[in-house]
Amino acid sequence: MSAQAAATAAYIVAALLTVMSLAGLSKHETARSGVAYGIAGMAVALVATVVLAAQSLTAGAIALLAVAMVIGGGIGLWRARVVEMTGMPELIALLHSFVGLAAVLVGWNGYLEVEAVEAAGGQTTVAPELLGIHSVEVGVGVFIGAVTFTGSIVAYGKLSGRMKSRPLTLPGKNALNLGALVAFGALTVGFTIAPSLGLMIGITAVALALGWHLVASIGGGDMPVVVSMLNSYSGWAAAASGFLLDNTLLIVTGALVGSSGAYLSYVMCQAMNRSFLSVIAGGFGVESGTSAAVEGEHREVQADDVAEMLADASSVVIVPGYGMAVAQAQYPVADLTRRLTERGVEVRFGIHPVAGRLPGHMNVLLAEAKVPYDIVLEMDEINDDLAATSVVLVIGANDTVNPAAMEDPASPIAGMPVLRVWEAKDVVVFKRSMAVGYAGVQNPLFFRDNTSMIFGDAKTRVEDILKAL
Ligand code: TAP
Repeated sequence: MSAQAAATAAYIVAALLTVMSLAGLSKHETARSGVAYGIAGMAVALVATVVLAAQSLTAGAIALLAVAMVIGGGIGLWRARVVEMTGMPELIALLHSFVGLAAVLVGWNGYLEVEAVEAAGGQTTVAPELLGIHSVEVGVGVFIGAVTFTGSIVAYGKLSGRMKSRPLTLPGKNALNLGALVAFGALTVGFTIAPSLGLMIGITAVALALGWHLVASIGGGDMPVVVSMLNSYSGWAAAASGFLLDNTLLIVTGALVGSSGAYLSYVMCQAMNRSFLSVIAGGFGVESGTSAAVEGEHREVQADDVAEMLADASSVVIVPGYGMAVAQAQYPVADLTRRLTERGVEVRFGIHPVAGRLPGHMNVLLAEAKVPYDIVLEMDEINDDLAATSVVLVIGANDTVNPAAMEDPASPIAGMPVLRVWEAKDVVVFKRSMAVGYAGVQNPLFFRDNTSMIFGDAKTRVEDILKAL
């Protein structure tokens, strides 16, 4: 078998492993094997690509490839080992930016190897009748890659708190986005007819600016959708590179990532009652309103009071949020669940689709602390039961339990479905201060008559309650 045929066979195996990985990742129970299939698929693909490339490379080039792989792999391993669970979303956003950058570089390489050589009167491997198609591939690849690159960098900035999460509202922002798309179309047509360095630079610059603007225009509450949308874009960027490099595996895996990311974005938009088109068009049609002022007194309680409340409760629902992740409170929360269950209290969890900072964030943390899956319910499964619940413990959640989303049409999170925790008999909110959540809006829940606040680090406070029980 020739090296090319062996590589094609390996690519088919790797593509199948990618499909199995996505299928595995769709359920808690099979997520681990999904990850294992993904790793195996990547390993097969990497080995096949390197072996195939080595056939036509000099010893010096192979050595360079090895050095790049060792350095890249080393940095990847180190980052993955040290990253905190709370830092995962920003790390993912940063990784998406690398995929985008790689697609831009592949596109530029395609231009330098083909169009630039043709323009200088040289010979290339692309047949003259296919030159136009090649130029379109270069233009589209660079465009998707560059939008993904700057968009992911802005997402990284917003998720890591290095940039304000407030949406940027430039005057005529929709016209700017539309103008950028029209400019890209015109430049690509021009590039296909008569490729030139100036047009290449133009396409790259327009796409870099558009990616930046699209994500900067999206506000705090919609960031989850943006992350999964950039995931999708990174898939399409990889697929575009696959066309340029004539690599079927990149096309297949890129399309899988692209379409699954797009579907996830769509599902998340539905869960958050947001328009999919509006979010992918950089907050099209969204006016940033000013929410009603929240006034009133809050009531503070201590661990002993909460322990007493829990001891008298017949049913408890725990609603975790980003603060539980920050505090790493999932372990004492799991202990509390066991203790209450042993005492005959019905304990369940209510998980909002965008609680935390990445899809499934809370589910991962609770699974890590060995909370049984069957008591961890989705928002829609538990919302109607909250009115009949004795005590709801809101542990480091804020935006996802904010009644303003339902009651204040001017609120930036208006329309987003939330967990109606205030319908329970008593609500206890664990947080460190009266500070706002990710979307930057005050939460009237904290001032309701049946709400008590317990201040401090969520982990320490839950441990205090365990001691008092
Ligand atoms: P948030 O609204 O982010 O609020 C978290 C709360 O936790 C804060 O108000 C904070 O209050 C508290 N907190 C932080 N550290 C704590 C600690 N050590 N101990 C106790 N409390 C602590 O949380 P949420 O309800 O989970 O909402 C998620 C938000 O993130 C939504 O707006 C969502 O759109 C956005 N978002 C989600 C995702 C995904 S995919 N899930 C991605 C990006 C953005 P204090 O500072 O007073 O302690």
